[in-house]
Amino acid sequence: MVILLNCSFRGEKSNSNYFLGLLEGLLEEPCERIQLNRITDASVLEEKLATADALVLGMPLYVDGVPAQAVELMERLYADGAGSYGQLAVYVVSNLGFYEAEQTQIQLAIVKNWCERMGLTYGGALAIGAGEMMGGLRNVPMDQGPNKAMGEGLKKLASHISAHSVMENAFVQPTGFPRWMYLLAAQMNWAPQAKKNGLKRKEIRRRRP
Ligand SMILES: Cc1cc2nc3c(=O)[nH]c(=O)nc-3n(C[C@H](O)[C@H](O)[C@H](O)COP(=O)(O)O)c2cc1C
Repeated sequence: MVILLNCSFRGEKSNSNYFLGLLEGLLEEPCERIQLNRITDASVLEEKLATADALVLGMPLYVDGVPAQAVELMERLYADGAGSYGQLAVYVVSNLGFYEAEQTQIQLAIVKNWCERMGLTYGGALAIGAGEMMGGLRNVPMDQGPNKAMGEGLKKLASHISAHSVMENAFVQPTGFPRWMYLLAAQMNWAPQAKKNGLKRKEIRRRRP
């Protein structure tokens, strides 16, 4: 059994949940996708993890680190004692607002360190840069156009999960969509979004003294 745990506070609508869904579609073994923000009784999850073969953490990058609700879970599982979930291999599908997926390195190191202390196998990660853009391309086939590198990364991750093997962390950006283009698109986007959020034109244009 593979537990796909969505650690985004946005829940079902999140980019993390979407990426986990794509991964689930590539896995042949039985999977269960769980929304961490819906869990009211963590002991149910603990029971599932005690018999699962793999745990995939779907995580957005928050302030260069791990989302608080995932930290809370990690602390809880740690309190169960190292070795309690010794059979688990832990993988990560991370995504972030920045273009550079390598920005997740601290977050992934936190998960790896936790795995070592827990006596778990850290199986590796796929980190997806420009996550808001990639999460918005849901009608583009997984391995085409800007999704090409992400699709390849997800397939590689799925094969390692199935084989229960360890891979190097992989970092992907939108294929054929360079950083300068991403920044340009972001610049065009923030002002209309601020307006939508009720900010007035002069407030948007006001510069700091
Ligand atoms: C509280 C918070 C902190 C964030 N910190 C970072 C960050 O440090 N670096 C970054 O690139 N993106 C950051 N982001 C952006 C998210 O990682 C990005 O929007 C991601 O696509 C959200 O994924 P989700 O839909 O799965 O939650 C942050 C977002 C929030 C809400």
